[in-house]
Amino acid sequence: MTKSAHATSCSKTIHYWSGITLSVFIGFHLFNQLTSLIGADAHIKVMQAFRTVYRHPAVETILLIAVLFQAVTGLKMVFTRKRSSTVEKIQVYSGLYLSFFLFFHVGAVLYGRWLGMNTHFYFAAAGLNMYPAMFFFIPYYLLAVAGVTLHVAAVHYRKTGSLGWSRAIAITGVLAALLIIIGFTNRFQWREIPPANKAFIQQSFGG
Ligand code: HEM
Repeated sequence: MTKSAHATSCSKTIHYWSGITLSVFIGFHLFNQLTSLIGADAHIKVMQAFRTVYRHPAVETILLIAVLFQAVTGLKMVFTRKRSSTVEKIQVYSGLYLSFFLFFHVGAVLYGRWLGMNTHFYFAAAGLNMYPAMFFFIPYYLLAVAGVTLHVAAVHYRKTGSLGWSRAIAITGVLAALLIIIGFTNRFQWREIPPANKAFIQQSFGG
């Protein structure tokens, strides 16, 4: 095996295993976001329960390393691999968006925590309910959730050739993305945001 073929195969293996690690967290994380349909209190309660696991220093370290590996190896493959079919294009472009999203999303959460904020429901709800920030945050989160499932659906199709299941995964993701936005915005009737979260968004987006 040549040196560059060996490096590509290493990147693929790291991307695969960091993707599997991240998928477990994302499954619980998106379920948590869906509880916004019940209300802010329900969302906060579920997050508090989940945090006892993913905020454990060992678990969080593994999670953050997986985020870093996933984004870096994904970006590397974008520039080294040819993409000829539509499915490959969906996989690569959704992955590209996810690298961008993960960088800003996790960066914002860690920055918020460093400022001493509680990065719970209202941390995300602020951007989704405040004018004009909502014009950025609604597509930003919609594309992220849809992007995850389009990425998984494309990988599934390339591995199994099952169009039915791949379509079902993609459609479920797009529906989940819409439901999460509906939950966070209180069915587009907009939520009252606590002053600290308002100020955080106003720093960068005005309003
Ligand atoms: C509408 C969709 C989403 C919303 C509203 C949302 C919201 C949040 C919030 C509020 C946190 C802070 C959690 C805490 O303080 O315990 C967080 C953390 C995080 N989110 Fe999301 N998220 C969304 C989608 C995603 C997606 C699609 C991904 C992955 C592709 C993702 C990956 C992460 C990661 C890795 C963390 C850091 C966890 C930690 O170490 O504390 N999120 N998200």
